[in-house]
Amino acid sequence: NGTHLQHFKVWRGDDTKGELVDYAVEVNEGEVVLDIIHRLQATEANDLAVRWNCKAGKCGSCSAEINGRPRLLCMTRMNTFAENEVVTVTPLRTFPVIRDLVTDVSFNYTKAREIPSFTPPEGVEPGEYRMQQVDVERSQEFRKCIECYLCQNTCHVVRDHEENKQEFAGPRYLMRMAELDMHPLDAHGNRAVESQEEHGLGFCNITKCCTEVCPEHIKITDNALIPMKERAVDRKYDPLVWLGNKIFRR
Ligand code: SF4
Ligand code: F3S
Ligand code: FES
Repeated sequence: NGTHLQHFKVWRGDDTKGELVDYAVEVNEGEVVLDIIHRLQATEANDLAVRWNCKAGKCGSCSAEINGRPRLLCMTRMNTFAENEVVTVTPLRTFPVIRDLVTDVSFNYTKAREIPSFTPPEGVEPGEYRMQQVDVERSQEFRKCIECYLCQNTCHVVRDHEENKQEFAGPRYLMRMAELDMHPLDAHGNRAVESQEEHGLGFCNITKCCTEVCPEHIKITDNALIPMKERAVDRKYDPLVWLGNKIFRR
């Protein structure tokens, strides 16, 4: 009838200590890992902490690691595992644990605040912004981000490297710099060179792990990080060509 018991290991603990706890949980056809976590809460682990909201892959809340792979709990179907496989669920490794599967992701909020916001050219009022469709499309892909932070959690620059967190904005926020850099009306300044000099773009050695885990399939590395690296080099050597292009495109 499509129901079986599955062996789960779920990390339980807080910021001081924790361990993997074994559970045998009922799994029904069509279920996702978040369903199983909810079943645990309803049965033998009432106080199991997990963050979630939409159960539709859109809120970005339910990020965790399943068998060591960063995933959304609500978008990981149980039929991707064999019935006799042990399914291990642990909190995101790059951020401090609050309790069980819930981590403190404030690193990302700090990084978000460090990115200078969109700066319109002087003398242009909000109602007067005009841009070409082609310029809208260029950064449209980046707007699909649901801020799940799976990319931030996965990038080896900060995963297990607490010491790099200060200097490295992470793929999600370097992508935000790219988005604004591609905006024809952004008058903030040279975002590519700034990404390199102030937000740690140079730490990225294009391993593409960020792109691999993105649930929105955003080509973070190819479409945001690599172009920004190329521009940072070009503009450093020829800042006038860049400025000319920017003015011309307006
Ligand atoms: Fe998540 Fe992708 Fe946004 Fe990174 S870029 S936070 S992986 S949706
Ligand atoms: Fe990290 Fe992605 Fe670059 S994983 S190293 S930001 S390509
Ligand atoms: Fe919203 Fe999983 S619960 S993305």
